[in-house]
Amino acid sequence: MTRLQSGERHRIRFKLNGAATHGEAEPRMLLTDFLRQQIGATGTHVGCEHGVCGACTVTVDGMIARACLTLAVQVDGSDVRTVEGLAPASDRLGILQEAFKRHHALQCGFCTAGILMSLDHYLRERPDPTEAEIRDLLSGHLCRCTGYTPIIHAALDAAGRLADHHRAEKTDV
Ligand code: FES
Ligand code: FES
Repeated sequence: MTRLQSGERHRIRFKLNGAATHGEAEPRMLLTDFLRQQIGATGTHVGCEHGVCGACTVTVDGMIARACLTLAVQVDGSDVRTVEGLAPASDRLGILQEAFKRHHALQCGFCTAGILMSLDHYLRERPDPTEAEIRDLLSGHLCRCTGYTPIIHAALDAAGRLADHHRAEKTDV
């Protein structure tokens, strides 16, 4: 096993939203800082920096992760998805994003990237969630603006459309 020395920079190669990406980071650098400062992927937000607010949520190898509790060197060789990967094209929103827009489910937008990533991950596993399940999921995210109700409406609205979309994706493979 390679020992990482503090201060030494390490080359990291991974997939970011499907594209091969690389950069260098010290062992102590957080994935949030690496994404935002080294790669310029500023869609992932930073709030509390200790795993509470959920603003920094991404997926790593299909598992939901707090990027503020993940070291950049830990994603070497991994498949990382961030909010930038949700839109099918630079001029089009994804299904969840459209639902957030339709239901006015964001105001300042600070919490939004993390909530979208959690919902995208959750709705792949639970395509027909109850309102209680969505509320439970949102308990891992802090939003100061919306009161959560429009977020719940957007999530329930998007769920069925996403299920159809994911079914079509599997059929195309
Ligand atoms: S910034 Fe990561 S959970 Fe708050
Ligand atoms: S929209 Fe402002 S914190 Fe959620």
